[in-house]
Amino acid sequence: MTEVIIVHSQEEAGAIYAQAVAKLIERKPDCVLGLATGSSPLAAYRELAKIIHERHLDVSRVRGFALDEYAGLEPEHPESYRSVITRTVVEPLGLTPELVHVPNGNPDTIEHAGEEYDRAIAAAGGVDVQILGIGTDGHIGFNEPGSSLASGTRIKTLTEQTREDNARFFGGDMDKVPTHCITQGIGTIMKARHLILLAFGDGKAEAIAETVEGGVSSFCPASALQLHPHATVIVDEKAASKLRNKDYYRYAYDHKPAWQGI
Ligand code: F6R
Repeated sequence: MTEVIIVHSQEEAGAIYAQAVAKLIERKPDCVLGLATGSSPLAAYRELAKIIHERHLDVSRVRGFALDEYAGLEPEHPESYRSVITRTVVEPLGLTPELVHVPNGNPDTIEHAGEEYDRAIAAAGGVDVQILGIGTDGHIGFNEPGSSLASGTRIKTLTEQTREDNARFFGGDMDKVPTHCITQGIGTIMKARHLILLAFGDGKAEAIAETVEGGVSSFCPASALQLHPHATVIVDEKAASKLRNKDYYRYAYDHKPAWQGI
């Protein structure tokens, strides 16, 4: 079963992620982190940065692979996912920039970029912990509804809904939001050894209920998590509001032995 943890705040969710990743870094200093952009993982990155600095963890060998990138946006653009990952992950955590990869969204070379990216992840030994946000339509990465649950990294067309949701990062101007992207496929994401999905706010409640308690369907790409042997969904009360089995999730987490971790 996907483990569901209901928390009071993004900071609390972030701290759970950060503890798990810090333990991983201590055990495997060259571990591979799967990275997401968007607002959901920001508190988790902040909490992880805090622990890294407090415990003086050596992160010089930690490797990273981002989930996705807009197609046709210069890497230097402040909203390219390359820039966002540099600003929100590489710099605050003190990672080695050369070890952190973002899919190549350059239209001139994008044709083979997906296969190359999947090969690079495999050559690194696969992703140890993949952090995920979820779209209001149930997307993970930029795998919009209808995406093959076996897909590899490839080019996708963003839905109008996703472009509207992301217009806030482009001064509210929909016309500035790219129409295409390159994203890790659901099949790629499912190969990560541990998936941690974070969701906050009313807007995510329906997608979370579909993901955890609905049928497995490409119409809610995140529902593929039900088939993953180690998936953790961390949500606040609002994002949890449409879950039918809430009381059980709370009970299970409250009675979890400390040694078990997430
Ligand atoms: C970002 C990504 C997307 C976001 C999702 C939620 O790399 O892959 O799936 O996680 O769109 O975005 P936020 O967290 O901004 O609500």
